[in-house]
Amino acid sequence: MSDAPFKNPGWAGNTGEFDLTEEQVRGDDFVGRRPKDGGHPSGAGTLPYMLAEKAPEAALFEGEYHARFEKILTRYPTKMAALLPALGLAQEIRGHLSPETMDRVAELLELSPAYVRGVATFYTMYNKRPVGRHLVQVCTNISCNLAGADDVVDAFLRYTDTELGETSEDGNFTVIEAECLAACGFPTCVQINSRYFENVTPAEVPKICEHLKAQGE
Ligand code: FES
Repeated sequence: MSDAPFKNPGWAGNTGEFDLTEEQVRGDDFVGRRPKDGGHPSGAGTLPYMLAEKAPEAALFEGEYHARFEKILTRYPTKMAALLPALGLAQEIRGHLSPETMDRVAELLELSPAYVRGVATFYTMYNKRPVGRHLVQVCTNISCNLAGADDVVDAFLRYTDTELGETSEDGNFTVIEAECLAACGFPTCVQINSRYFENVTPAEVPKICEHLKAQGE
């Protein structure tokens, strides 16, 4: 974490409608520092969370992560109903959902592998292959597109020296396009791991990437 919190190029609070700073609303961590056991059961199964370091070969689910898995199960009437947060937890640990990972989750939840693969491949927020420490999702849907999202994508690809979907050599970045991120009033919107960057222009891309690299190392 840096001493001087990074200033998002734009975010909803900038409209003056709120008194809170971005750090007060979102914190200033860009990669995961959530307790392994997920804290209170109500938070244990929340959205997929990206850790700075992945462990693609790690066991599912052991130690504190086992406690977290059990907490998730307590919140659902059946094991099947817990599939989405269980997949999210598997991705948090391993970084992506390989076929083997999906099969292991199927085994733990007593579901068929085909069912789990069908669900996992339906949702784009589950990574089906490895991604970098920072997954950069640039919205290229209509509002952002009209505001120059394609140039923002190009700027990220140039900075990271990658093609779409590739991971940079240093393992820091994977850049992909995303459909509408529901921040159409603040184009171009970019989701990096679980955080939004709004009103992003190509000129701000190097500053954003440098900040993320400094924080992720
Ligand atoms: S079009 Fe980009 S956030 Fe909706």
